[in-house]
Amino acid sequence: MNKEFVRVSEKLGEAFTLPSWMYTDPEVLKIEKQEIFTKTWQYVGHISQLRKPGDYFTTEVGDRPIILTHSQDGEIRAFYNVCTHRAAKLVEGEGNKAVFSCPYHAWTFRTDGSLLRAPNMSGSENFDYQDFCLKTIQLEIVHSFIFVNLDLEAPSMTLQFPNLFKHVEKYDLSKLRRVRVKETICRSNWKVGIDNYLECDHCSIVHKTLVSKLDMTQYEMEMHEYYSYQGTPLKGKTADFGLGEGGRYYWLYPNTWFSFDPGPANLSIHQSIPIDHKTTKYVYTTFFMHDEMTKEEQELLAMDDLVRKEDLDICEIVQKGLETGAYSQGRFSLTENLVHQFQLLLQRDLENVLPFPAIDPTTPR
Ligand code: FES
Ligand SMILES: [Fe+2]
Repeated sequence: MNKEFVRVSEKLGEAFTLPSWMYTDPEVLKIEKQEIFTKTWQYVGHISQLRKPGDYFTTEVGDRPIILTHSQDGEIRAFYNVCTHRAAKLVEGEGNKAVFSCPYHAWTFRTDGSLLRAPNMSGSENFDYQDFCLKTIQLEIVHSFIFVNLDLEAPSMTLQFPNLFKHVEKYDLSKLRRVRVKETICRSNWKVGIDNYLECDHCSIVHKTLVSKLDMTQYEMEMHEYYSYQGTPLKGKTADFGLGEGGRYYWLYPNTWFSFDPGPANLSIHQSIPIDHKTTKYVYTTFFMHDEMTKEEQELLAMDDLVRKEDLDICEIVQKGLETGAYSQGRFSLTENLVHQFQLLLQRDLENVLPFPAIDPTTPR
């Protein structure tokens, strides 16, 4: 790591951006996974994936395998997908099961995580089934969207994201139907994509087709401690525009955003999941108001795909620049205030484990 750099100053007008090694050093990603991805709220799925008791699906958060279940008592729960006998992966994929039976020695768990049978344990001493339940993960459902946090001590989503979706919640977001999940790989560090999403200085240059429909003179940005909002109406609409009458974009620290795009009523949840320090998987989950897609909805998806490609292409170009060794740190414009907020949060979460200089520079370099 090249440690010749200045920390991100609290004061936007004088702040330098994060140093390039934050985007190019594989050690940084290892630390981020430990310090950020296992301690923050991560979107894992939609309530429609767990309609009936016994319904379950599996996924990964912070590289840990997890199971989401609709238990027989009606509760939605999250567990590590790790058998408490000798740590085999308990279940794959998704479906409906009355119990989860481990493929290794057939320990069997109820859908509430409690241990029902441990066939090879007869005769063992001091073996209490209660001590071997599946390990629970903190879970919250926000407007039918399921989030988990691997940190059992993490503050609730309501505390961390107060008044989230305030512009759109009057539209009953639980009516949205999950119609498509699409994954794309981008050859850039996960933070390049977040930085890109959190400013619209590039919109009129990179997203000409999208911007031609929007009234950019009404573009709004709102900063909250752990999330931010950007939005603007279609031309001819006002600031209180309805679903689809403009773009409303919410970013949740660190790597999730909810995009309500212009067009038929819709939502697209974007997650950027680091694969390695210079490769990121983007998962896009699209919701419309009904299961069968209309022509307008298909057109919207095509527009979304175009905008995402424009963003991913520029992110890959930026990553190459970061890796040249010819760049160490840049400066924020005053309209990059949300990127600055993200980088300050990240610096704060990592400063006990990464070598950030202790003092804000008054005269940088
Ligand atoms: S590891 Fe699951 S039953 Fe042995
Ligand atoms: Fe963009």
